[in-house]
Amino acid sequence: MRELLLVNGPNLGILGRRETAIYGTATLADIVDAVAAEVAERGWQVVSVQDESEGELIRAIQDNYATVGAIVNPGALMIAGWSLRDALANYPRPWIEVHLSNVWAREQFRHESVLAPLASGVIVGLGARGYRLAARALLELVDEPAGRL
Ligand code: DQA
Repeated sequence: MRELLLVNGPNLGILGRRETAIYGTATLADIVDAVAAEVAERGWQVVSVQDESEGELIRAIQDNYATVGAIVNPGALMIAGWSLRDALANYPRPWIEVHLSNVWAREQFRHESVLAPLASGVIVGLGARGYRLAARALLELVDEPAGRL
């Protein structure tokens, strides 16, 4: 069974009751279900990891090199998560960085991601829908010959 890795960083386990005007009302469980539904057509299952600590996220990435690809919302670790960056640098499959909110429209300190240069793509500001779009993108990126549109 092929598996897609879904990684969510600090404070994303309380989605649905976290600053809903910014992050929306979908819970993390809703998001996991939506991603699972999106990739079911390919027979992929979702391995979902959420943790408040960077070390546990790194461990999850190291333990899941056999997954087909990953969706990563690092939360505020985007700003200075250098160890998470190193872990993702060694992740052998395509991965997409997702942020629910439009970080560019927010405080200056959210405008930099140390992870984004390594990602296959970044989806920002589209709410929970961003995860579904990332899953769709991975369906196309994984096993596609390089350069094919
Ligand atoms: C976030 C944006 C980050 O700046 C913030 O620290 C989060 C959530 C988002 O999904 O919009 O925790 O990653």
